Amino acid sequence: MQTIIEPFKIKSVEPIHFTTKEQRINLLKEAHFNSFLLKSDDVIIDLLTDSGTSAMSSNQWAGIMQGDESYAGSPSFFRFEVQVQKITGMPIVIPTHQGRAAEKILFSILGGKGKYFVSNTLFDTTRANIEFSGAEGVDLLCEEGKHISTPAPFKGNMDTDALRKFIIEKGAENIPLCIVTVTNNSGGGQPVSMENVREVRKICTDFGVPLFIDACRFAENCYFIKIREKGYENKSIPEIVSELFSYGDGCTMSAKKDAFANIGGFLAMHDKNLAQRCRNLLVITEGFPTYGGLAGRDLEAIAIGLEEVMDENYLHYRIRSIEYITEKLVNAGVPVMQPGGGHAVYLDAKEFLSHIPVNQYPGQALVGALYIEGGIRGVEIGSLMFGKYDDNHNLMPAPMELVRLAIPRRVYTQSHIDYVSEVIIEVYNKRKEIVGLKIVEEAPMLRHFTAKLTTF
Ligand code: F0G
Repeated sequence: MQTIIEPFKIKSVEPIHFTTKEQRINLLKEAHFNSFLLKSDDVIIDLLTDSGTSAMSSNQWAGIMQGDESYAGSPSFFRFEVQVQKITGMPIVIPTHQGRAAEKILFSILGGKGKYFVSNTLFDTTRANIEFSGAEGVDLLCEEGKHISTPAPFKGNMDTDALRKFIIEKGAENIPLCIVTVTNNSGGGQPVSMENVREVRKICTDFGVPLFIDACRFAENCYFIKIREKGYENKSIPEIVSELFSYGDGCTMSAKKDAFANIGGFLAMHDKNLAQRCRNLLVITEGFPTYGGLAGRDLEAIAIGLEEVMDENYLHYRIRSIEYITEKLVNAGVPVMQPGGGHAVYLDAKEFLSHIPVNQYPGQALVGALYIEGGIRGVEIGSLMFGKYDDNHNLMPAPMELVRLAIPRRVYTQSHIDYVSEVIIEVYNKRKEIVGLKIVEEAPMLRHFTAKLTTF
């Protein structure tokens, strides 16, 4: 088989700043063992997130120059609106400055005490916005999704039996929305099958619960459907994308992922009344409905990115590069989520550092070790991010202790990816030297962003 090459040429480059291991030991201490507190200039390969970190294409940069910055009625907005309508089939498009702004608006309107939002798995900002409104977020992930190293084609699926039971138990009137996150970021970037979305849609229709799609990585999800789900092998990505969105009453989107934009997001929907309430809030928090917290140039970049992301050559390379690292790690015996996700490699820190108990945050300890060894920055998706305390201040751990290495889109080449695999394997071979961490300072919500930790 021929090597799958990067489907782009490089026109402009950014230098990487190199550091030594000794420097990184000190830099990590100064950052209180929290990768969010590192300076990006002190990072060699930055896999903290795939969000807002894409390399834009020459077409997108050209679009930036064409951006019209009129306060109201900018042609850039209409180009953006048409593109979102084309993809989602949803007539109403509301731009926001990023995904969580769309969430904040939606959940401020639909949330509140006594309400439940059900999902395959909610992302952390989605959950936080739900909880901030006083409502509760509920994850109903399918059984396969809970077994990190057992491969299955659609580990992001929702448990539809559990969904039905949940709606009956809590009452449809207390469930303002069901949300399907594609791909399932917190659950390993794993895709959701079309069959599953169809089933969820049917249950939602039966009970009168609206269905929204958290569409951040819709194109990656649709590529997985094409290569893994029977009946879709000969369909084009735009056709699969249209079908996926056709099951939603609305969607939230962070354009910082599958739109190759450095900022942006939107809400799209069918319901005119809901849209009116969203726009009322939009005006006081984001901006006028034809720019919603974005510059005209951002709207152009997003519109172009939303088209580019559906290119099959790109998606083939994208999914293959994640699979490539995963294969290398599996061959070296490193515990990693299988199969590879759409945007990231997820290390199983509980297995990797089995000598560190969960209340000493093995995921965060592994993040630190990867940084010291090779200047790689990842993020913990485990008990630092999702853990809660019981009444006695004992940690109630998250179901999984993962370290996510998210691959920015079109940014790194194969040699970077090879380097990342080598560093992970090196750390794995020295894993017994890694020690656990304790928190010394934390915020009440989304604590992982700012928490300060120290070693035991
Ligand atoms: N939903 C999902 C599934 C996400 O992954 C994110 C962001 C959001 C919503 C919020 O979008 O950042 O534009 O406000 N995920 C980033 C990440 C931050 O690193 O996975 P946003």
